[in-house]
Amino acid sequence: MTFQAILFDAYGTLFDVYSISVMAEKLFPGKGEALAALWRDKQIEYTRLRTMSSTYKPFWEVTQDALIFSCKKLALDLDLNAQHALMSQYAKLPAFKENLSVLDALKSKGLKLAILSNANAAMLDAVVKAAGMETHFVHLLSADTVKKFKTAPETYQLGTELFSVPASQILFVSSNGWDICGASWFGYQTFWVNRAHAPLEELGVKPNGQGHSLTDLLAFVEHQPAS
Ligand code: LAC
Repeated sequence: MTFQAILFDAYGTLFDVYSISVMAEKLFPGKGEALAALWRDKQIEYTRLRTMSSTYKPFWEVTQDALIFSCKKLALDLDLNAQHALMSQYAKLPAFKENLSVLDALKSKGLKLAILSNANAAMLDAVVKAAGMETHFVHLLSADTVKKFKTAPETYQLGTELFSVPASQILFVSSNGWDICGASWFGYQTFWVNRAHAPLEELGVKPNGQGHSLTDLLAFVEHQPAS
């Protein structure tokens, strides 16, 4: 195999960020999907603004700020109960259904697995535990360590530091097209879990592999030439 370890993005890749639309729809009928979509976009936008301007704040707080803004923008009355309910649900977002069996299969091949996420440690611990993935991921790497969000190279570097191998020997897996670009620019091999059937970003980057679920990732790994 041409890589020895796999790094996973968390939100959108392992955990379903848009599933929050179910609770959002109950709280704000007719607006659940719009809120889930804007919330996610704003969350990512704020990570970029804060990194570019050196005004870091943990992802949990960024996520909450993005929720408050999105509700204001959509004219939704977010009281403290609703805010608490949505944030509590975010702390235990469900994992995609194929994850556990694919992670088991990857581990049994002797591959080292870790998560590399914008999320701060408490947030990652909670969501990984809720999904029963503590044994699959011993290492949860967080942007909080370097106080810069992806796509800052310092954040991607946490992965090469952990595994003590060059980026070219690590596969980075993400559902986020922009994250695939950042990871490729850093030097990782990349697999894009294109769950949303989105077009490739126009940033001059082509992932080494792509599919629509972690099952497709497993097939990609199994078709790698023996090293
Ligand atoms: C993460 C976000 C970007 O987990 O999905 O890093």
